[in-house]
Amino acid sequence: MRVGILTGGGDCPGLNAVIRAAVLAGTQRHGMEFVGFLDGWRGVLDGDTVPLDEETVRPLLTIGGTILGSSRTNPLADGVDDGVARVRKQLTALEVDALLAIGGEDTLGVATALHAAGIPVVGAPKTIDDDLSATDATFGFDTAVQTAVDACDRLATTGASHHRAMIVEVMGRHAGWIALHTGMAAGAHVTILPEEDPDLDAVADVTRSVLARGQAPLIVVSEGAKVHGEEAAKNAPRDAFGHAQLGGAGDALEHELLARVPGLSTRVTVLGHLLRGGTPSAADRILATRFGLSAIEALASGNLGTMASLHGVEVHQVPLAEATGVLRTVPDARRAETAGVRW
Ligand code: F6P
Repeated sequence: MRVGILTGGGDCPGLNAVIRAAVLAGTQRHGMEFVGFLDGWRGVLDGDTVPLDEETVRPLLTIGGTILGSSRTNPLADGVDDGVARVRKQLTALEVDALLAIGGEDTLGVATALHAAGIPVVGAPKTIDDDLSATDATFGFDTAVQTAVDACDRLATTGASHHRAMIVEVMGRHAGWIALHTGMAAGAHVTILPEEDPDLDAVADVTRSVLARGQAPLIVVSEGAKVHGEEAAKNAPRDAFGHAQLGGAGDALEHELLARVPGLSTRVTVLGHLLRGGTPSAADRILATRFGLSAIEALASGNLGTMASLHGVEVHQVPLAEATGVLRTVPDARRAETAGVRW
């Protein structure tokens, strides 16, 4: 079997580890051959490939990003002429029997549609946002949180020296997992998630009381938090999947706090893509490797239209359609755990 691998959507640490595990296990256990499609679905539509063999992938475990490149190209978007037929044609021309699509809700959403159209495909889930409902975790998240916590620890010491409120904006488009876990692990005084309507007067109260006891407020805000007007999001540029390019939550929050806390000194740090770069954590290397191995066994056994998924400590394949139906956002119960506690 000749398998085409692609990585789509926002990159994250661990993508290369999936590619490594899939190629090594597929070649050695099942005699599969591999090609890499460049830049996600763009490479599939254009038939743009690179060879992938054991020698190429062996050094990849620790390397961030993706050697295949990524894009947010959507073969099913308006304006792309007959995307499914083009994919089918390219696979036939390149003698590719099946696809391994490594991506988040968008990339796997396309994979779901291709499977429904009879194209052999399996998936492996990734996203630093950790917001896919059909898996307990995605790789990339652990590394992103650790990177954000390291940054917060540093920002807290300079904030303390200058008696400043340090506002830290982290990624997380629709789900606040990165903000929630960063805030908990960094000991933030306030954490604001996209899932809630923030009470900015209460945030100002906490800011005042932390300053009054001689400490520097540390505030973690998710990029998707509802701290600025709807207009900002409406006018933002959008990708081929219709997602607005986010940004400005930290600045908007600063603006609101300055209006409520006279004399406040603040600094905003946007961690942004810093959270997506660099070498994966040990936990992400392991999860990515397990997902790659699971996806290969699914291809070998003909368990198509499925995605690798972590349930408790086990990795299983689940239907792709389940993976992309509903986003896994932070439930009220997780927010309730810390409600009313002043850190
Ligand atoms: O992949 C998820 C994510 O990192 C989101 O947290 C963020 O909003 C988005 O991607 C940023 O995407 P881009 O790389 O297109 O700026």
